[in-house]
Order: sequence, then C-alpha cells, then structure tokens
Amino acid sequence: MQDTALSALITALPQPVLVVDAEGFVQAASPAALDLFGQRILGAQIRAHLRQPEVSAMLERVLAGKLEDSAGFILHSGSRETLWSLIARRSETGLIVLSFNDVSDLEAAEAQRRDFVANVSHELRSPLTVLSGFVETLQGPAGEDAETRREFLEIMAGQAARMSGLVADLLSLSRVEAVEKIRPRTPVSIDMVLKATLAALRPQIDAASIRLNYDVPEDLPDIPGDHDQLVQVFQNLIENGVKYGASGGRLDVSAILQPALPGFDGPAIRVSIRDYGEGIDPIFIPRLTERFYRVDKARSRDSGGTGLGLAIVKHILSRHRGRLIIRSAPGEGARFEAVLPCN
Ligand SMILES: Nc1ncnc2c1ncn2[C@@H]1O[C@H](COP(=O)(O)OP(=O)(O)O)[C@@H](O)[C@H]1O
Ligand SMILES: [Mg+2]
Repeated sequence: MQDTALSALITALPQPVLVVDAEGFVQAASPAALDLFGQRILGAQIRAHLRQPEVSAMLERVLAGKLEDSAGFILHSGSRETLWSLIARRSETGLIVLSFNDVSDLEAAEAQRRDFVANVSHELRSPLTVLSGFVETLQGPAGEDAETRREFLEIMAGQAARMSGLVADLLSLSRVEAVEKIRPRTPVSIDMVLKATLAALRPQIDAASIRLNYDVPEDLPDIPGDHDQLVQVFQNLIENGVKYGASGGRLDVSAILQPALPGFDGPAIRVSIRDYGEGIDPIFIPRLTERFYRVDKARSRDSGGTGLGLAIVKHILSRHRGRLIIRSAPGEGARFEAVLPCN
C-alpha cells in the first residue's frame, strides 16, 4: 500500500491505533491515539508509555515474534479511569499494529448486572429463610398447637406475598425495559388514569386516614401513551405518598397543562403527587430511582415495598419521553411530578 493510502486509512480510524516498528518505536498514530497519548507518542518507545505489567509482557511477546496477542489496559487521566482492551498484531514486514477498544461502558454494565443479581438473590433469600424456619418449626411439636399454627401460617403467608411482590416488580421492570425504546402512541386521558388509580387505592387511602385533594382539569388534552403503564406510575407514586407521607394526613393529586417547558418541544402535562409527611433529605433524592434503593429499608419492607417502584416509574416515563421531578425537604413532605409530553 502507498504511504498516502496508509495515512488516509490511519487518519480515518475512529479508535486509537498505533503502528510500532520491530524495535518498539511508534511510527504512526491515529487521531484518537494522539488524543489519548499526546503528540509526544510519535517516535517514542512504546515500552515507556505502556508500563502496566500485563501490557508490557504482551508487548515483549509480540516484539519477539508472536503474531497476535491481547491485554487489558487501564488509563488514568485526571480523576477518570478508562478500561481498554488492547490487541496487537504483527505484520509480515515486522510492523506491529496496536489497537485500543474502550470497554469501560461494557465493564460498567457488567458490574451493574452483577450488582443486580446479587441484590435480587439477597432480597429473595431473607423471606425464604423465614419461610423454611417456620416450616421446620411447624414440623416439630410446636405444629400440634392450633394457635401457634395459625400464627405461624400468617407470618408465612406474609413472606410468600413479599416474594410474589418482588417477582411481580422484577417482571414488570424487565417488561418495561424491553419496550423502552418504542414510544406508545395510543391517546390516553390522564384524568381517567388518575381516577382509575385512585379507585384502586381508595381502601389504603381511607385506612391511613388521608384526606385526598383532587384537582385535575377536565379539558386536559389526551397524551400519547400506554394506559396500563401510566396507571402503574401513579399507583406507585400515590402509594408511596400514602405509605411514607401518611403522617401529614393529606395528599394532593393535581395536573396542569404546561404550554412550554425547558427540554420539551411542545406542551406537556405535569402531574403532581404531593404529600405532607416526613419528606426526604435532599442528599437521598438522586438515588431514589435506583433499583432496590430505599431510604429506610426496614420500613419499606414492612409496608410491602421492594425498592423497585421508582425504578419502574422512571423507565415508564422515559418510554413516554417524559420526566420525573422530585422535590422534598425533611419535615415538609414530598412532591413527585411526572411530566408527560402531549405530542
Ligand atoms: N412520598 C415519599 N416520602 C418519603 N419517602 C419516599 C416517598 N416516596 C418514596 N420514598 C422513598 O423512596 C424509596 C424508594 O421508593 P420505591 O422505589 O417506590 O420503593 P418502595 O416503595 O418499594 O420502597 C422508599 O423506600 C422511600 O424511602
Ligand atoms: Mg413504592
């Protein structure tokens, strides 16, 4: 290949690539490689620049004649750390091509997946432990006593319910994630969604002695959406208001049409669920939509919570090209707003 063709090729490469001669001196670098290592890499000895043991050992093997090899490479720049997979290939002429692939995102996704599996296992294990403990007790002499049996079976039913709640939330999370890229387009009335949700939650609202204020204009335009998923959104937000905000004795459910909002192309409906309970310390707010995140684990669990509700809410809203806004301060209740674009 001619020099101009070679340099055209190397300039066009989107990833960092270095060409090294048989002695280890850098002969050419793609623009991304220059970004990564700076201009001074040209003509420099590669051994001096890639000094991590795994990479050095790999380089020596290839410089000694091995045709192809690879190694992981960690690059520190400022406070950021990126992970690269480095592949080295030796050509017939003795030149060695080193190409770098950024695997930081892959690595992060992998770590997230591991965390998720560990969390799920942990969440399922505790009710299972309780269940098997009680089964064992009931198999012994304690099982003969009718009163004990009744009491234990009630606890066991509670633990089984907790496990099915968790499995149901996990399934709906994975279902939402599977269709997240496909925006739903059926016209949906927010007023009807909210009324259906509130009808289902009425018993819980009454049991917590919460006064409900409902303020939704009847002439709101329909929005493109998925009725059942939106019910799921407001079910969790209202249920949270009831569970964690009951001490305020009041819950406001309202909606307004906003002609313009930063970040939205056209009008949007802003639905607000406001409670007057204990509120949330602002330092926890950014983490609330993480899977399994709960400010007070024991309390969430006692009320049948899984910590997945707001993660599901966030995914459903993102599928609707909408947004979740959370505002709260300790002692002042919490306001959860779902903003949904009208077109
Ligand atoms: N209205 C609220 N007031 C105070 N804390 C809240 C409110 N809504 C949510 N939270 C906090 O956010 C956490 C996560 O909520 P969510 O994802 O719905 O999980 P769950 O309700 O299953 O615990 C809750 O455990 C609670 O600590
Ligand atoms: Mg919840």
